[in-house]
Amino acid sequence: MLNQHVLQTIDVTKEFKMGQVMVHALRGVSLSVNEGEFMGVIGPSGSGKSTLLGLIGGLDTPTSGQVIIDGVDITRMDEVALTRVRNEKIGFVFQFFNLVPTLTALENVELPIQFARNRQFNPTKRAKELLDLFGLKDRMRNRPSQLSGGQQQRVAIARALANNPAIVLADEPTGSLDSESGGVVMQTLRSVQRELGTAVIIVTHDPAIAAQVDRIVSLSDGLVATDHTQEQLVEAYKKTTGELKPVESAEGV
Ligand SMILES: Nc1ncnc2c1ncn2[C@@H]1O[C@H](COP(=O)(O)OP(=O)(O)OP(=O)(O)O)[C@@H](O)[C@H]1O
Ligand SMILES: [Mg+2]
Repeated sequence: MLNQHVLQTIDVTKEFKMGQVMVHALRGVSLSVNEGEFMGVIGPSGSGKSTLLGLIGGLDTPTSGQVIIDGVDITRMDEVALTRVRNEKIGFVFQFFNLVPTLTALENVELPIQFARNRQFNPTKRAKELLDLFGLKDRMRNRPSQLSGGQQQRVAIARALANNPAIVLADEPTGSLDSESGGVVMQTLRSVQRELGTAVIIVTHDPAIAAQVDRIVSLSDGLVATDHTQEQLVEAYKKTTGELKPVESAEGV
């Protein structure tokens, strides 16, 4: 491969037909995400965040443009191939956890490994390791209804990682949690990136969450409006406040 991008979108558009009306959800989004990047996507409601995540994750196909995951163009894959990419390359984390209610935490995490065609791991061993890593060793036999929201989300993160994906996609992962459990979920996602080297893309409305990522892409009306690293934002902020200094020192003269 020419680069170490885990993800590239090239001029991706998505249109939805709503009766007579065409909704332009994405108008040409080009993004490159590096291996192990910890990135946030922000933007107003309806700006296309979830649509973009769905296309990146192969849940839907773009109207035009390309989506390349780990060097493989998934844009025109058939459903069978796409299902395999979703299961083996992508981990999804949703706002409302989406765990299987009748299965235990352990069984929920084992499930994607059992469905993998090229099974890399022993399902039970891998699931136990991941749940242990996220502090859920003594909760493995519990069903989702017996777990707190924060615990359920950590099980969902373990499940997302089951097949060692290249990217974890999280759409408002803390959106239904109180700030304390949300904080633990963010720490968990950070440890995924740091310790397992997985790229993590987090869609959020919450400025406190956005402040914790290394790079922030903002969408506006189906386009990338800004794309900055956290350092660039801090530098820009310093410059804004720095501009006040000559006035202050002028006062001192
Ligand atoms: N399946 C669909 N059919 C028709 N229109 C859709 C569909 N999915 C999304 N849209 C439209 O596409 C636009 C982008 O929606 P999207 O869900 O990506 O926004 P979002 O940024 O995730 O918003 P929010 O912050 O509210 O979750 C919106 O105008 C939405 O109504
Ligand atoms: Mg959304």
